[in-house]
Order: sequence, then structure tokens, then C-alpha cells
Amino acid sequence: MRMVDIIEKKRNGEELTTEEIRFFVQGYTKGEIPDYQVSALMMAIYFRDMSERERADLTMAMVESGDQIDLSKIEGIKVDKHSTGGVGDTTTLSLAAMVAACGVPVAKMSGRGLGHTGGTIDKLEAIEGFHVELSSDQFAKQVNEMKMAVIGQSGNLTPADKKLYALRDVTGTVPSIPLIASSIMSKKIAAGADAIVLDVKTGDGAFMKTLEESEALAHAMVKIGNNVGRKTMAIISDMSQPLGYAIGNALEVKEAIDTLKGEGPKDLEELCYTLGAQMVVLGGKAKTIEEARTMLEKVIQNGEALEVFKKFVAAQGGDPSVVDDPTKLPQAKYTIDVAAKETGYIQKMEADDIGIAAMLLGAGRATKESTIDLSVGLVLQKKVGDTVAIGDTLVTIHTNQLDIENVIQKLYTHIVISAEKVEAPELIKKVIT
Ligand code: URA
Ligand code: CA
Repeated sequence: MRMVDIIEKKRNGEELTTEEIRFFVQGYTKGEIPDYQVSALMMAIYFRDMSERERADLTMAMVESGDQIDLSKIEGIKVDKHSTGGVGDTTTLSLAAMVAACGVPVAKMSGRGLGHTGGTIDKLEAIEGFHVELSSDQFAKQVNEMKMAVIGQSGNLTPADKKLYALRDVTGTVPSIPLIASSIMSKKIAAGADAIVLDVKTGDGAFMKTLEESEALAHAMVKIGNNVGRKTMAIISDMSQPLGYAIGNALEVKEAIDTLKGEGPKDLEELCYTLGAQMVVLGGKAKTIEEARTMLEKVIQNGEALEVFKKFVAAQGGDPSVVDDPTKLPQAKYTIDVAAKETGYIQKMEADDIGIAAMLLGAGRATKESTIDLSVGLVLQKKVGDTVAIGDTLVTIHTNQLDIENVIQKLYTHIVISAEKVEAPELIKKVIT
């Protein structure tokens, strides 16, 4: 087999065989096929697309390029959730405890990552003593005992995806539906879940800015999952403004705990119920979405979800008393209120730039080497559609430095107040099964 023939075939709009797809993925991972040939192929795929069969084959070739996590020691149907990423998205922490309390095992592999705030693991490390260094036996044992554990990412998961993504990043071939969908799904499948629920974000703070693009990506991922034997569902949710109120690591942990107490922001709560209901159905613990939702509401009301979270924190070395007293989480030295300069309605809270403002305070990593400050971030006091009067607090800044004029300016620029009434955006745009 010759790589140049594969490139020409795709350039001409033909379908690649399973063997051809395996050949280039394996060859590239091993360093036997050079970057320039794979770049050409990525560009051909960008223009020519891939069939459903090719997408499934590409996904599985990437899965097979590295380690695959074996979750067979864990009882029950393992359901994983993946979000395509947003600002202030604390969903994982509360959602995991909620579905675990309904009896669905949550065996979560999480990352740190670059972004406006840290990833799930950084957030959890805001809890004194918490660690994610579990052996695979400890991991399985913990999930069997309390239905929930979080572990750090294995080093050799989908190496083909790592190499291909890095190459796409510098060759203008990231925004291709078949390439994005197979990249995301390969990581979820290698992480061992039996079933997958996807939260595809849409809007300013999302990877996909328009509803059409987000829908196309969601459909592509659901198809891949189901075609390779993992039951997959997706929702599309709004990311034109940040999710919930808190953006920042310790601040988001507090928000997740509030949500488990039934006192969280309405949008975050709604997202947890919507995603959670799908997970409980896929996990075989309820027959219908309605039944699953009722179960989830119950574990919030009777405190069982909060109890699962406490046990999970303690099992991984963390101080469970933060659940009763979140002031034990890292606190920033100063809080500064940003006051409205006009009266009217909140028209926009642009998620992406508000996320960058949180990052400038130190809540996120600009490069892999940056350290993050777990205590800092933003707490919104208003959301899109709310009324606002001059002098009302729009956002409270939690910071360890006082020289933050750039952050304040950014917030004023990207929080837009209008005289006309504005409707709050719909949170759940679509459910795709
Ligand atoms: N996120 C991924 O993991 N892969 C892509 O290709 C794009 C976004
Ligand atoms: Ca939030």
C-alpha cells in the first residue's frame, strides 16, 4: 500500500477502505509516514468529507493506536459524559454524583487541560488533600463501592489522535466534522465506557459557534458511537453566556456543591437533569427520560447525591467537611464588585471573553507550563435577560492582585446592556438520539 495512492483517492472524492484507513493511522503513529503526506490527506478529507463507515473506521483505528481502558471489573453499564467545552462548566462534578446516587457507575477519567479555568481534576484539587492517583484496582473497587471515582488520564491513550490533532492545528484542518467527531469519540471509547452522553455546546464560548455546525457535529458523534457498539446520545446546549454563575476552580466546586444541595443556578441544574436523565436511561436504571428525571430530583431532595459526593471526596483523600462548609475551599484575598453603568436589560455576556477575563486573573492556564490559582475567578450576579439598574453589581471578581484594570475593562466591553427587553436564551437547544 502506498500513502500517495490513498491521498489521491481521497482527493478524487472516493471512499477509503478500512485497511487504507488503518494503514495511514498506524503508519503515522509509528513515524513511518511523514507529516507532509498526512497533512495532504487531512486537507483532502477537509474538502471531501468521510462516509459514516470511514468515520467509524478512523475512530477505531485511533482507539487501537494506544491503551484501551478495561472497566470490566466494574459492575453495571458504565456511562460516560463528554462536553465539547465551555466557560464555567461545572456540570461533571454535580452530574456524576447525581447519576451515581441513582445507581449508575461513574468511572471517570479526566484531564487538566488548557482553557479559561482548569479541568475537572484541577477543580477537584481545590479540595484539600484530594488526589487522583488511583491504581486500576483501587479505581474499580471504589466505583463498585460508591459508584463514583475520578482518575487522571493515562499517558498512552489514543496517541494517533494526539499526533493528528497537533498536525491539524498547524495545517488549517481542525474544523472538519469527520475529523473532530472521530477525534473526540476515539478518546471516549478508549476510556472504556459502554455508553456515552455528549453535551455539544453552541454559541460564542463554544468550539462550534452556530447551531447548524453544533448539530452536524452532534449527529456525527452519535452515529460513530452507535456504529462501533457504544450507545450514544447527545444534547446541544447554549454557551453564548457562561454556565451558572461561577467561573474559576474553587468557585465552581462551591457551585457544584450548591447544586447538589438543590441551591445551584437554574441553568446548571437544568443541564444536570437533562444530561443525567439520559445517563440514567443508558445505564439501564430507568425506562424513560421522565422516570429518570424523577429519580434525579429525588436524590437531590433527599440528600443522597450530596452524600455520594462526600464519600467520593473522602475516598480520594479529600476533606469531606468542605461540603458542609465551602469556606474551607481556597479563598482569594480580595473581592471586587463591577457595577453597572447603565440601566436596562443584560443583552449579552459573551462567554469566550468573560472566560478570558477569568484566565487573566489566573484561573486558567495560558500554556501547559502555567500554574493556576485555584482561588480566583468571577461570580456573575446577572445573566442574559435580567434587568439591571445603574450601580447594580454585574460581576464579583475574586482576585489575589489589585492591578486588574484590564480584567475590569474586558468585563465592561463584553457585558452588553440594552434598553430593550431581552429574552433569556434557551439552554437546551436539541436532544439527539
Ligand atoms: N477537540 C478534540 O478533542 N478534537 C478535535 O478535533 C477538536 C476538538
Ligand atoms: Ca459555572
